[in-house]
Parts: sequence; C-alpha cells; structure tokens
Amino acid sequence: MSHVIAIANQKGGVGKTTTVVNFAAMLASKKKTVLVIDLDPQANATSGLGVEPKDGISLYPALMGTKAIDEVILGTVIENVNIIPSEVNLAGAEIEIARMENHLQGLTRILDPIKEAKIFDYIIVDCPPSLGILMSNALAAADSVIIPMQCEYYAMEGLSVITQLIERLRNSGANTRLTLEGILMTMYNKTRLADEVITQVREHYADAVYETVIPRSVRAGEAPSYGLPVVVYAPSSTVAVGYSEFAKEFLKRQKAKETIANASDAPLENSIAPTIA
Ligand SMILES: Nc1ncnc2c1ncn2[C@@H]1O[C@H](COP(=O)(O)OP(=O)(O)O)[C@@H](O)[C@H]1O
Ligand SMILES: [Mg+2]
Repeated sequence: MSHVIAIANQKGGVGKTTTVVNFAAMLASKKKTVLVIDLDPQANATSGLGVEPKDGISLYPALMGTKAIDEVILGTVIENVNIIPSEVNLAGAEIEIARMENHLQGLTRILDPIKEAKIFDYIIVDCPPSLGILMSNALAAADSVIIPMQCEYYAMEGLSVITQLIERLRNSGANTRLTLEGILMTMYNKTRLADEVITQVREHYADAVYETVIPRSVRAGEAPSYGLPVVVYAPSSTVAVGYSEFAKEFLKRQKAKETIANASDAPLENSIAPTIA
C-alpha cells in the first residue's frame, strides 16, 4: 500500500508547497516512487514541478467522475515523481463537490485502487490554505499529516487548530488511521524570537517536531520561476540541504516505525528469552 501524507496548515505562506515539491524530489532521489496531488487552485506545486496547469486536467474531473484517475496523472521534471495537477476550476469545484453524496470521501474513493496497486511508495497531497472541503478530503484520505510551520509568534495558535482537526477526524470515525506524522519548522532565521518559538513548539509537541529545521533562503523563492524544486535548482543552498536532511530524517523515522511494528507482530517464540542454565 502507498503511504498517503497530507502536507497541511490552514495558514498560507508557511512553506507547504515548498515542502511538497522538495520532499517529493528528495524521496525520488532515494529511489522512492511518488505521486503529488496538488489540491490548491493556485497550482503552485504543479508549476513548481515544471508542469503547466491545464483546464480539465486535475482532480476535479476525477472527483466528478468525468475522467478516470489515470487520465489526470502526469509526469514532472523529476524522474519518479508524478502529479495530479491543479487547475483554476478546482476553486469552484468545492461547491459542486459539496452537493455530492459522501462528499468528504471523494479523494479516498479515487485513491483506493491506486494505493492497492502499489504503483507509488508515497502519495503526497499539497493542501490549500483553508479548512474547506478539499482539505477535508485530503485529511480523510491521508494516513498521516506533516504540518509545516513558520518560526513566528502566532504560529502556535494555528497549530492547535489543525492538531484538533486531526483528532476530530480520528475520533469521529471519518479517518481512524490518521496520525500526526510530524511538525516541520520552516523559514528559520537565527533570531531570538525564532529560537523561542521552536523551544515552545518542542515543549508542547515533543518528538512530533522534526529535528531538522528548514532555513530561510532567497533560493527557495527563485526556484519556482524555473519550474524546479530548490533541491534541483540550487542543491548546495542552505534550504536545499535542509530539505535533504529532512527527507533523511523522515525515512529514518519510517524505518524505526516499521521495526517497532514488525517486532510487535513477531510470534512470541521468536523473541529473545533468557536461557536458564
Ligand atoms: N525556506 C524558505 N526560505 C525562503 N523563502 C521560502 C522558504 N520556503 C518557502 N519560501 C517562499 O515563501 C512563500 C510561501 O511558501 P509556500 O511554500 O508557497 O507556502 P504555502 O504553500 O504554505 O502557501 C513562497 O514564495 C516560497 O517561495
Ligand atoms: Mg501552497
């Protein structure tokens, strides 16, 4: 099964899309196959991976049942990274989707066969900056959520909004698998305030906060105009190194989780028992 990760934060400009395109590119460089789903009508992840948004090629026709899912999956500038692009129409789609039966499960329904076919190791969803129907669809379909967060003062309040939403989805039965994958601090500048914010977030969310902190760099802003992730556009920039470290940390944590899961699945006789002389 593919692992579906939503990159979400209801605030705009916190580094969601930058995280999506660079995380996807770094996973691909480590021989993982990735499908990015761009759920933001602004289509920044689409153009950021070198794909031009086109009317009729997005999740929208797939959700409405007028196109099959494989008709809207395209290649990107990165080998092993595919994308379901976004288009402007996706903004209007929220209203139409709202009229559908089980409208929060639309993405889940579409993704199920793709997940089972195991074509992609990871499916990464770039969420729009609002708590609307598209983001709810993403959270209903996801196995886990990564929350990018800017190192600024009011960020903490926003964080509790989304962590409570995750909890609500889990407790209501809408998505009982959903977990908080982690919190990624982004756009870090060495200032006392930024350090205080990081300390405070770690106090509240402990290990959920990645050790890797993504530094602020003008290179991050330049890369999208070339249709490239910054890890490809300027691989030695501080921000690219940050995303590379982040992908490593993510995979290391994944491995640790698998080890724990496998150990608890193992039959008792395989566990190391003390030998009695
Ligand atoms: N580490 C960074 N350093 C500097 N600028 C960044 C960094 N990450 C993102 N940006 C810029 O900040 C803006 C918002 O980032 P973006 O990833 O689009 O956020 P979101 O998807 O949450 O709205 C973009 O112009 C992006 O290029
Ligand atoms: Mg975005």
